[in-house]
Order: sequence, then structure tokens, then C-alpha cells
Amino acid sequence: MDIIPAKRLSGEINVPGDKSISHRAIMCGAIADGKTVVSGILDCDDCDYTLRAFKDMGVRIERAENRTTIYGAGPKGLADPGKPINTGNSGTSMRVLSGILAGQDFEATLTGEEGLSKRPMKRIIDPLMLMGSVISSAPGGFPPIRISPGKIKAIDYTLPVPSAQVKSAILFAGLYASGRTTVEEKIRSRDHTERMLKYFGADVKVDGLRVSINGPAKMSARDFGVPGDISSASFLAAGAVLLNNSKIRISRVSVNPTRTGILNIMSRMGARCGAINRVEGFEPYGDIEAESGPITGIDINENEIPGIIDELPIIFVLASLAKGRTVITGADELRVKETDRIASMKQNLDKMGAKMSIDRNRIVIDGVEKLKGARLKSYGDHRTCMSMAMAALCAEGASSIDDVECVNKSFPGFFKLLETIRS
Ligand code: S3P
Repeated sequence: MDIIPAKRLSGEINVPGDKSISHRAIMCGAIADGKTVVSGILDCDDCDYTLRAFKDMGVRIERAENRTTIYGAGPKGLADPGKPINTGNSGTSMRVLSGILAGQDFEATLTGEEGLSKRPMKRIIDPLMLMGSVISSAPGGFPPIRISPGKIKAIDYTLPVPSAQVKSAILFAGLYASGRTTVEEKIRSRDHTERMLKYFGADVKVDGLRVSINGPAKMSARDFGVPGDISSASFLAAGAVLLNNSKIRISRVSVNPTRTGILNIMSRMGARCGAINRVEGFEPYGDIEAESGPITGIDINENEIPGIIDELPIIFVLASLAKGRTVITGADELRVKETDRIASMKQNLDKMGAKMSIDRNRIVIDGVEKLKGARLKSYGDHRTCMSMAMAALCAEGASSIDDVECVNKSFPGFFKLLETIRS
């Protein structure tokens, strides 16, 4: 796809539903008792894999326009799919689903596409096996993984790496244990699972960095709406900050405090952006506004990383066009996403004349006046693709990006929406 630089971004828009909340909505709805109706579930490749997995396990799920109706089968009511469950390229589907499968009475195999097959699963296999699940995998703890029935017991587990996916797998498995399962994090990761399990009636307690669930738990169907995805909104907000005379408003976006790290980072860089019209609820949402203005490089430390893990690629773009130096420490988890995002972003930004260097666990970016148009590659990674599309909009001279269909993983319609706000 060719990308011509933009003069400005302006307008009021919505972005599609939050991916993390959508996955969890399908999962909780499927194992609750009763009928759950959810509006705004993200219609994307990744969530489709979660949806199909539950359909294959006998759960009736109907989609009509924006509404998804899930006829919950109850915690133990899933049926043996009789074939491997394909989770495509979706790490969240494979990792979080494993927790639910650990509590079922049938053997299940989870497979994925080539990209997912290279992503580490030992991080969920280890705690689930401590809970009594019987799991085998390809050598080194990679997919496919096979989960056989086991008697699930409660554990108290400290996450070696902050990860919402791992925390969620353990909490879902904890639904099937008797007694209190506790997960402790060193740094808080997104908390959508604990919020939603509680909303569906499970006995979940949060005490600082410790989250616990008391099992065996029952869940009751609940209706709700999924707010827009702040990770998707962040590409557009960053574009508005970087392009002169721009101002955009993105309505009804999740402003869950474990996800708003990007707004804090942009504000610390001096950007004019923030959330207004905040509505509280089991998942808070609000409108995000961003407008153009100068930005300055900052230091970002490892405690901030879990809260901006999916926004780091667009932060690299912001830092490349900020005045001065940005230093990011402790972002190694980025190397095990859909691509090694430190490498895929650096390869692209280098081509545009950015100054990004890597020194052990430190990423150093010295801002430049202008990026120049270049032939860019998505490497099949949705967030690398959208970050580089924004860089290309802000560059001098035209760019091209290959394989842009990967944006369907989280943000179908990204390029169409961009056309409506750019000039
Ligand atoms: C997610 C958690 C994060 C994030 C991913 C979605 C989730 O991954 O990068 O896009 O929905 O729980 P980790 O848990 O591996 O940090």
C-alpha cells in the first residue's frame, strides 16, 4: 500500500472494541450460566478464533450487527470439540483459553499458525501444571499444547514476568480449584480478567498486586458494552500530536487505569492529549482528545512497561520525532510479541532516517526533525504496520508498506478510518 504524507488529522471518530475485553467477554459468557448479550465485541481475526473455539466446544453464539449473544454452557459445560482448537495467531486465545481447558473433563489440543508456534507457552504451562493440570507441548514449551484432564488445586503464584495473559490463565483455572488461588505480580498488568470475573459473580479479591479467586466458582450471565480499544486509538492520537494543525476526538474508549499508560507518556512528552467525559462502570470509558504540539524525549522505566506494552511501537515513532532523547528500559517482552517488535520497528525506522539504538535492555531514540518516506515492511505484525503507517503520514515523501492485511488482527478498517480524518 502506498502512503502519501498527510497535512493534518481532524474529526470525531470511534475505534473498534477493545480486543482484550472482547476475548474475555466471549470466554466469561461461554462458561457462565445463562444468556449474555454483549455489544461492541471486536470483529477481528483474533477474537474470531476465541469465538470459534467455543462454538466448536458446543457453545451457541449468535452475532447480529453489533450484538453478540452467548448462551453460556456453565463452567463445566463445554463439550469435547473432537479436533484440535486452532487459535490462529492469537496469543491471548491460546494462553487464556488454556486456563479454562485445564478445568474441563476432556483432552484438548491447542494449535496455531506459524507465528504463534514460535511464541513461549512455558509461562502458562508451568503454573497450570503446578495447579495439577496435565500439559504437553512441542520441545521448549511451544505450541501445539495438549491439555489433559487433571484435578485442579489452588496455588499461590508469583509471576516471573508481568503478563495479563498468564495471570488470566491462572485465574480462570482457579475457577475450577477448591480454595483460593492467588496470583502476585511485581508490576501490575491489565486487569480486565479480574474485573470481568467479578462482574460475572465470581469471588475475586484484589489486594495491591495480589489477585485471588475462590473456587469452585459459579458465574452468572451479564449484559454489557465493550468500549473502544485504547491501543487502537493510540495510533491516531499520536498522529494528531505529530501533524500540525490537527485535533481529533475518539469517543467511548476504554480508560481502564491499567491501559492509560500511553496517555501519561504522551502528556509527559508535552503532548496535548487526555481523556474527558469519563464514565465509571465495571470497565470505565471516556473520550480521548489529542492535538498537535511539540513533544520532548523522556525516560521510560521498566515499571511503566506493562501499562504500555502494546503502545511501545507507536511510542518509538513519537520519540523519533520528539526533541531530544528518549530512553526506554526493560522492554524485552516486546521481543516475543507477533514479531520481535524492537527489531521490526528499528528496521523500518532506520529506513526513514530515525536514530534508534539498542544497548542491552535500553532502547535509545534521538529525535530527528523529519522522517523520510521509505519502503516499509509490516512483517505481518499489526502494531508494527499501524505504527509505521502513522510514521509514513508524518514523513517527507511517499512511503509504501507491504502486507497491510495484518491490521485485521486488531483493527479492521484502520486504513479506511484514517482516510476519513486525514487531509
Ligand atoms: C493481552 C496482554 C498483553 C498484550 C496483548 C493482550 C491480554 O500480553 O500484549 O496484546 O489481552 O491479556 P502479555 O500478557 O503477554 O503481556
